Amino acid sequence: MSLLKNLSLKFKDAFEQIGVDSSLVIVTTSDRPDLSDYQCNGAMKAAGILKSNPREIAGRIKTILDNDIDFSEVRVDGPGFINVRLSDKYIASQLDGLNSKNISSKEAQQEIIIDYGGPNVAKPLHVGHLRSAVIGEAIKRTARYLGHNVISDIHLGDWGTPMGMLIAELQERHPTWPYFSEDITDFPKESPLTVHDLMELYPQAATHFKEDIAFQEKARKATADLQQGNIGYRALWNHFIKTSITEVKEDFAALNVSFDLWLGESDTNDSVEPMIKELTKRGIATKSQGAVVINVADSEDSYEVPPLILMKQDGGIMYGTTDLATIIQRIKDYKPDHIIYVVDQRQSLHFTQVFRAAEKSGYIDSDRLEHAGFGTVNGPNGKPFKTREGGIMRLRDLIELAKTEVIKTIGFPDDHELTDDEAEMVNKIAIAAIKFGDLSSNRQSDYIFQPTEFVKMEGKTGPYIQYAAVRIKSVLEKAKDQDIEYNDKAELIFNEPAERALALKLLEFPTVLQNSFEARMPHIACEHVFSVAQAFSSFYQSCPILTPLDSSLIQSRLRLSSMAFKQIEVALDNLGIEIPNKMLRFE
Ligand code: ARG
Repeated sequence: MSLLKNLSLKFKDAFEQIGVDSSLVIVTTSDRPDLSDYQCNGAMKAAGILKSNPREIAGRIKTILDNDIDFSEVRVDGPGFINVRLSDKYIASQLDGLNSKNISSKEAQQEIIIDYGGPNVAKPLHVGHLRSAVIGEAIKRTARYLGHNVISDIHLGDWGTPMGMLIAELQERHPTWPYFSEDITDFPKESPLTVHDLMELYPQAATHFKEDIAFQEKARKATADLQQGNIGYRALWNHFIKTSITEVKEDFAALNVSFDLWLGESDTNDSVEPMIKELTKRGIATKSQGAVVINVADSEDSYEVPPLILMKQDGGIMYGTTDLATIIQRIKDYKPDHIIYVVDQRQSLHFTQVFRAAEKSGYIDSDRLEHAGFGTVNGPNGKPFKTREGGIMRLRDLIELAKTEVIKTIGFPDDHELTDDEAEMVNKIAIAAIKFGDLSSNRQSDYIFQPTEFVKMEGKTGPYIQYAAVRIKSVLEKAKDQDIEYNDKAELIFNEPAERALALKLLEFPTVLQNSFEARMPHIACEHVFSVAQAFSSFYQSCPILTPLDSSLIQSRLRLSSMAFKQIEVALDNLGIEIPNKMLRFE
């Protein structure tokens, strides 16, 4: 059980003893670490209800808690705050119990599907996909660490009008290709297009689509034909998918992001028609101006929620159709308690429509479907991040940009050729910089992508935390070199305030992970790991680790250091960030 839970129980019990409803009791870390470790303001709330004096109530609670040997001091401050200091012995015993088994709880295990990444076939990955991938991966890892069963699904954008656009464009350019002939059924195995061809073709086809109404018609028809099974189109489309997936896999692997399922919108194709038929039969889906829709507006809506369109007049199906059919598929295959969509906040109306449609259709309660939306990644001008030329910044170029910054910060000379080890170090630092830079801001806010800030070794950055971890590791290795054995049973001694402060920080971890997961907010975990790194740094400054004369002090400090290292390692791993072996400046 977490320290905070233990403390809450102690306080709740005391409040119950004086006849106060314990649900009023909230215990938090102290705002004044100089005065206390934890505090509770329940007396003020209780006073309102009991119509009595808060200080008097707090005094009665103090009398009860004074008997608890786990507290070295209980005080009443100000209007009725109850402040407690924990005994060193209690802190040490809590630290003994701090391991992953205690953090996860088997009873509360949930089945969770996380839908993130969501790249679109034939389009390069950009910073928006970076956010989805990085946040989704962190939520997945944290949930798994807490003992939940999690399945990650990339949900490729592989089935909409963009596919028809590409096909129509190619048909105009290469009318003699076998894919466009009615009587050919055997198609080449090799793709006629490379990734680069696709990436070049896409924007051209998109402009063509925007500017030419006749072409729009062609693209729409090609989309509908593709969806209805035109074999030549399908063969061509398969090439798009294969070529794109290879590239996407590489990009996401570079970010330490991986998926259990590589399904896409197209995987719902066989279930879409039966779904629409069934929903129409039940009267849930209705015809409206030639289209089939589900009305999802609610009389209490404060904004307009338009119907979810399942099928357009021309027979084409939509983004929402495949999302609804995917929900059915997921329920059938995995019976999830929750499906979490880590997708740009600007799609919130879409998810409102889809979730309501799913509930109205009786598939799943909408409170089990969650849109964990995120804000945009902006450039220094506050507008969505672009390349210098104003184009969309590709994920790969973004990583290269960060690597260049890392190389600059480390101080490698311009003509230096990186060894493999150096290249790996640079890569890990660059990825940490990008990911921590992203994850450390609240996902609902926009943030400014600042590679020079993100790679700094000081401040709230990924590299700072990696640096702290590497430093602790080198202390532990030094101990080994000096044949100093230490173990995780060594008695913990708190002589210096910095030792105690570090210990208390470490004890917050279970609560932090729980809060971060429940709110689907990785920045909560980022704050914590940053403060552990800071607490270690203060400890390191005021507490020599390997030099004290007293060997039990060495043992205690080594154990504390090793706990700090392990916690940073786990916390970073949950964020999808690795620790390099070395973090030396170039010498
Ligand atoms: N492909 C979409 C996009 O780039 C994101 C997909 C999100 N997931 C979903 N189930 N709709 O905007």
